[in-house]
Amino acid sequence: MLIDTHCHYNHERLENEIEACLLRAEADDVKQCIVVGFNRDSSEAAVKLAERYPKQVYAAVGVHPHDSKHWNTDTEEWFRQISLHPAVVAIGEIGLDFHYDFSPRPDQYAAFRSQMRLAKEVSLPVILHCREAYPETLAILAEPEFAEVRGVMHCWAGSVEEAKQTTALGYWLGIGGTLTFKNAEAVRASAVAVPLTSLLVETDAPYLAPMPHRGKRNEPAYTRLVAERLAELRALPYSEIAHITTKNARTCFPKLR
Ligand code: NI
Repeated sequence: MLIDTHCHYNHERLENEIEACLLRAEADDVKQCIVVGFNRDSSEAAVKLAERYPKQVYAAVGVHPHDSKHWNTDTEEWFRQISLHPAVVAIGEIGLDFHYDFSPRPDQYAAFRSQMRLAKEVSLPVILHCREAYPETLAILAEPEFAEVRGVMHCWAGSVEEAKQTTALGYWLGIGGTLTFKNAEAVRASAVAVPLTSLLVETDAPYLAPMPHRGKRNEPAYTRLVAERLAELRALPYSEIAHITTKNARTCFPKLR
């Protein structure tokens, strides 16, 4: 079986199709998923979905760098409370996005650091969003204050050198549909350069559909296409990739049952 460690059934492009998507995922060996929040409403929606589909769906709660300007002590307290919910397996997605800069960078840093502190306080792993900010993100992960925090750098898009730094800090790489893109040599190079025990698979659905669905709406069933491509690259049978990445997901996210 596979676990899609990052998807957005809480997104308007998927929320009305969830039952059909869950059936297709099941048929393609994708038995569980983590629905990741990106602000307060989507985090609450993720938890509700996890309550409705307790065998298949788990939740992550957090404020995305795009929404960092709305982070304050009230939202922090709300996230502290909801993070204690049994179905919440991670704080995320959180991090830095210097590609879009939808929130000012000081706000991005403040919300990221606060949520890293929260993760540490409630003993949950983090799901990190990082775009054009690998050196800055890695510097924060390496701060002594966050030495006990672990998690995943979702939708891996860094260099091989950054991949090695990330796994040396005890973090996983979330490998998604970009692995199958024609021009994604750096992603493929990272996926073979680090230990297999440091890799998770994901879709980021509805975004970033793998080949041959590139440009269309993604869905968690396509985690299978990512895992098959990874199996090819690592010269291992699909079953072995499924077994190891699922075990990795349970190590990264201890509240997954
Ligand atoms: Ni995402």
